Amino acid sequence: MIPVPLSYALPDSSATDALGAGLARTFPGAAIGATVYLRGELGSGKTTCARSMLHALGITATVRSPTYTLVDTYSVSGLTCVHVDLYRLQSPAEVEELGLRDLTGPGYVMLIEWPENGGRAVPPPDLILQLQYAGEARSAAIGAGSEDGRSWISKLAIDTSLAAYVSNMT
Ligand SMILES: Nc1ncnc2c1ncn2[C@@H]1O[C@H](COP(=O)(O)OP(=O)(O)OP(=O)(O)O)[C@@H](O)[C@H]1O
Ligand SMILES: [Mg+2]
Repeated sequence: MIPVPLSYALPDSSATDALGAGLARTFPGAAIGATVYLRGELGSGKTTCARSMLHALGITATVRSPTYTLVDTYSVSGLTCVHVDLYRLQSPAEVEELGLRDLTGPGYVMLIEWPENGGRAVPPPDLILQLQYAGEARSAAIGAGSEDGRSWISKLAIDTSLAAYVSNMT
């Protein structure tokens, strides 16, 4: 992981929602697409952040945790959103069968919870979001895995709506 240039204090779940919405506002766009790793302990807020991002991208459907389905997909105006949760993965072969690499690149945004469980079949990240417990609250550290991720982070860092919601600890 490239050194973490951004971190935020997330005092409550609405702050995690605000981060998800900020990620959607600054998303590189459907023409480029993106893969995001959501890392962090059980209950650290990965699904909360993903759900908020998907809704802010325009998904009106209910976004559930894909813990049992492993992959849920949603479509909105030229963008396919792929929400993945590899927590319950039984074997590395199972992730191969998911064909995740065919669901990345232009036209796709892929959000992956528990990417560390997937091994080599998991597409490389543009952005890595690490959530952490801070007592009852959470914090988030965001790093880039690609040049697209770097420019995404640069936009996020100057997003005033997000800054109004969560404090940047960087
Ligand atoms: N910043 C926050 N402060 C306090 N609670 C939060 C915060 N963000 C999310 N939560 C709460 O934490 C709980 C677990 O969130 P969530 O399901 O998003 O975690 P998760 O990381 O996806 O868990 P899992 O590892 O099981 O997939 C929810 O009740 C959510 O509202
Ligand atoms: Mg989850």
